[in-house]
Amino acid sequence: MKRKSICLIGFMGSGKSTLAKLLASKLLIPFFDTDAEIEKREKDSIHEIFLGRGEKVFRKIEAQVLKDIFDKNKKEVFVLATGGGTLETEVNKKIILENFKSIYLKTSFSEIKKRILEQKTYHRFLWREDSDQTLFLKRQSLYREARHIVVTDSKTPEQVADEIIKIF
Ligand code: S3P
Repeated sequence: MKRKSICLIGFMGSGKSTLAKLLASKLLIPFFDTDAEIEKREKDSIHEIFLGRGEKVFRKIEAQVLKDIFDKNKKEVFVLATGGGTLETEVNKKIILENFKSIYLKTSFSEIKKRILEQKTYHRFLWREDSDQTLFLKRQSLYREARHIVVTDSKTPEQVADEIIKIF
């Protein structure tokens, strides 16, 4: 039986996109990123989609993109980076938990805050509204449904990638 593809989940700034690229290059397998795919498909930034069309529309597009990536590539082994809220949609949760080796990149809120403030060019619509951690705390139980939990605080992306490769 083939290995399961890896799906990285976790809050904004937990390193999902960086790790997906790194893992793909180390394991010599393809990677996909739902946010990048949404921007390509909609020819618009995630931020603009949130601003102009709202979260509900964004979640619909996100669910379609996830389904399409999975349907097109399910015979392959690949790495998938999701968005911080992808698991909130029930159908997405089902696809991810039933078909992937799901990995929660567990990062503390203070570390996330530091990382996001460093990424001055990437604007996350929902971040502005979460300076009091409400969303972060609310989503922990969702993320914990992942098959594996890898703590990222005080580790380099290389170290985290090597840890994931050991459980792959
Ligand atoms: C979101 C996280 C973002 C992006 C969108 C919504 C969220 O992805 O999908 O802004 O709901 O947490 P990252 O987790 O890659 O920042």
